[in-house]
This record gives sequence, structure tokens and C-alpha cells, in this order.
Amino acid sequence: MNPTKKRLVVLISGNGSNLQAIIDACARGQLQAEVVAVVASNAKAYGLERARQHGIPSYVMPKDSDRAAYDRALAAYLKPLQPDYIVLAGWLRLLSMHFLQHFPQQVINLHPALPATFAGLHAIERAYEAFQQGKIKYTGVMVHAVPDEGVDDGPVLAQEVVAMHAGESLAALSERMHAVEHRLLVETLAALCFA
Ligand code: GRF
Repeated sequence: MNPTKKRLVVLISGNGSNLQAIIDACARGQLQAEVVAVVASNAKAYGLERARQHGIPSYVMPKDSDRAAYDRALAAYLKPLQPDYIVLAGWLRLLSMHFLQHFPQQVINLHPALPATFAGLHAIERAYEAFQQGKIKYTGVMVHAVPDEGVDDGPVLAQEVVAMHAGESLAALSERMHAVEHRLLVETLAALCFA
């Protein structure tokens, strides 16, 4: 165990581009941290391949209808890894107190919308639709702590507004949003890891 580096566990469900941003930031020294494990809720998540390419242990925990049992099992797997922070980076499963009680002030979530807006799935798509309907002029990205079962809700650690442009495609907006996510997540973790 390297005492100078924070231990991160990253939870993913899909592509894992935010996981990649964390791995790259560790490699270039922007993050005084190492990713000690990746957990995926989906065996087909491409993020598992990213973990494999970097020699990071990974673990698949497929969805289970018994939420409490799932969360207890996940906590039991992560505890011995002694994570400093558990990063939900595109993790599509709600975590209950059966999990969260074991990691107070250690669980961090990334959400592609501003606080109190577009909680839940497809936040970028829903913001895009709202912009097309003239209801909003901007969206954004936030990183927040996860103290309880609130969905995409919790003490905000960082947020950044992303302006929306008339005529921009959803794909183009999504690309800009993901670029902001990658940077904001790494900057937020860097601040936490130096603290
Ligand atoms: C990100 O937009 C994240 O905020 C959202 O799901 C997406 C995951 O992207 N919750 P990736 O798997 O990190 O590429």
C-alpha cells in the first residue's frame, strides 16, 4: 500500500470514459491517488476493458432484485480494499444505506446536470429537450457527496455551467458535457486527495 496516495474505487455501468479520465490523471500525477479496483454493475461495461488494460482489478456485480443483499455484498467486497473514496462514475444503480453507512463522507457521485435539475437517467437528453422547448438556456455538471439515498442529490463539491447553443446537435452537446465531466471530476478528486 502506498501511504502517499489515496485509494480510489470506481463504480461504473458502461463506457467508463470518466474512469479513464481518473486513470489518466493518476498516471500524470494530477491525482495523488491510485484506482485500486473497478466495480461494474454490468458485465458488458466497456470500462472493464479499460481496467484490464491498466492492470486494475475489476469485479462485476450484476443487478439483483434484493437491494439490501446487493448493497451489503458490495460493502463487504469494498471494505477490505480500504478505499479513501468510492467514485460513482456512470454507476446506474441506487445505493441504499445498507451500503452507504459503511462509507460515510467517502462516496462521490458525478451527474451531468446542475444541482436539483434533471436527477436520474438521461439527464443530458432531458436538458437538451428542455432547451429545444425554450425552458432553459444552460445546463451543467456537478460532483457531489452521497450521504444518503437521495438521487443525484447531496452536498455539492463542484459544479460548472454548460451553455447551450441553438442548432447544436444532441451528440455535440453530449460531447461537450462529457469533456466538462472528465475535467470537473478529476479536479474535484484532486482537491479531495490533497486535503
Ligand atoms: C456520464 O455522463 C455520467 O455523468 C452519467 O453517465 C455517464 C457515464 O459515462 N451518470 P462514462 O461511462 O463515464 O463514459
